[in-house]
Amino acid sequence: MQNYQVAVIVGSLRRASFNQQLAGAAMRLAPSWISFKAIEIGDLPLYNQDDDDRPCAAVRRLRADVKASQGLLFVTPEYNRSIPGVLKNAIDHGSRPYGESVWAGKPAALLGVSVGAAGTALAQQHLRNVLACLDVPTMGVPEVFLQHTAGLFDADGGFGAGSLAFMQSWVEHYLAWLKKHAD
Ligand code: FNR
Repeated sequence: MQNYQVAVIVGSLRRASFNQQLAGAAMRLAPSWISFKAIEIGDLPLYNQDDDDRPCAAVRRLRADVKASQGLLFVTPEYNRSIPGVLKNAIDHGSRPYGESVWAGKPAALLGVSVGAAGTALAQQHLRNVLACLDVPTMGVPEVFLQHTAGLFDADGGFGAGSLAFMQSWVEHYLAWLKKHAD
């Protein structure tokens, strides 16, 4: 069985982030032939095209971690009906210098949880637009728009009883799709 590494990019820097919890709970459901690489984005500088030819250590690390992965998992909150700036900043860093994007061709899935009932639907739609222009294929369905309610996660950091079966089937669908689309 071939092993795959999936780079996990979480769009929240908040210490008690629900999206960080969502990423953790989803990773737990994966089988052993998948490994996950958490991509650190909190220490990236604001993207500045002047620095393309002298990237700092944090940018070099981001680029190396994504390059070494065969798939991508974006787990993001919705900020003001779009993706958080920290996430867009990380995507921009990985996309440059021109012609040297680390994202191109890597199959991606999207997850998100918010406190609002729309459950990050608009942020995910914006993210799909951004990724399309970077030649990142995104899994269309099943979509996951979660509202943070009591019991979504259990005390142990896994999914609660109401969401476990749905998320397990989503993970299985994603992994089958990843195998089909990864190099
Ligand atoms: C939000 N939140 C939010 N929620 C939503 O459903 N739609 C939105 O457009 C926004 N906009 C928004 C903007 C900003 C600047 C903040 C800080 C928050 C609320 C958001 O869902 C909530 O803060 C989540 O807890 C953020 O995710 P993490 O940090 O818990 O992963």
